[in-house]
Order: sequence, then C-alpha cells, then structure tokens
Amino acid sequence: MATTRTFSIIKPDATRRNLTGAVTKMLEDAGLRVVASKRIQMTQEQAEGFYAVHRERPFFGDLVSFMISGPVVVQVLEGEDAVATNRKVMGATNPANADAGTIRKELAESIEANSVHGSDSEENAAIEIAYFFKPEEIVG
Ligand code: CMP
Repeated sequence: MATTRTFSIIKPDATRRNLTGAVTKMLEDAGLRVVASKRIQMTQEQAEGFYAVHRERPFFGDLVSFMISGPVVVQVLEGEDAVATNRKVMGATNPANADAGTIRKELAESIEANSVHGSDSEENAAIEIAYFFKPEEIVG
C-alpha cells in the first residue's frame, strides 16, 4: 500500500471538551502522521461550502450550525492507505454503531457531535485538503 494523505476535522464537541490531544493520539497510534494542523473558527460560508454535498439533507442546517458552534482543528494526515486507515480508527458515523476502540465509540456524543470528520475517498481528500490548506502549509 502506498503512503497517501487524507483530511481530518476535530469537531467542536471535541475541542470544547479539550480532546484535541486525545483524538490526535488515537490518529497517531493508528499509524497516521499529522503533516498539517490548524485550529480555526469556521465561518457559516466555509461550513456550507465544505458540506455542500449534503445541502439537500434534512440535517444540513443543524450540521452547519454545529460546525460553527466552536473552534475546530483541521488536519492533513499522512500514512499507508490514509483514507481507509483514518476511517477505520474514526469508526461508524453514528457512535452507537461504532466499534470499540474507535474515536467515535470512545469519545463522540451523538451522530451530529461525532468528534471527527474524515474524507471518504482519495479524490475527496484532495478537494478537502485544498479547501483549507495551501501546499506550503503541508510539511511531510
Ligand atoms: P461527517 O463525516 O462530518 O459528514 C457529514 C456529517 O453530518 C456527519 O459526519 C455527521 O456528523 C452529520 N450528520 C448529522 N446527522 C446525520 C445523519 N442523520 N446521517 C448522517 N450524517 C449526519
């Protein structure tokens, strides 16, 4: 498997509970390396643009409100098959369905306040990384 990159967000429920380090340790323990990271307050426009694919879903408004309810930490992660590795350590979207030992099972509060976002494909990872980072901000 090749070394690839994925995009991650530590969501407001996790930053609010001071879990940035705990989440990052679980990512690192899974074999991922943080090659870019910044703590930001997303604007409504940024959150709506980032989640544009979900615009027609009934939870879209609540999702955007939640994502701007506090700071988030956006990260680029690098590792062997990074998208799949990250999705495995994140666990299922709904923490109630997530496997033991995953970030969402151990730390998340609900399907909305589910502590982390991770790209679902390499194609989307490239788009999501470029949405938040300039190439020179990523140091592998
Ligand atoms: P994320 O991986 O960030 O992508 C979209 C987010 O929408 C998802 O994680 C969830 O946190 C959130 N969400 C809220 N309600 C739902 C729902 N009913 N189904 C799927 N995702 C939801």
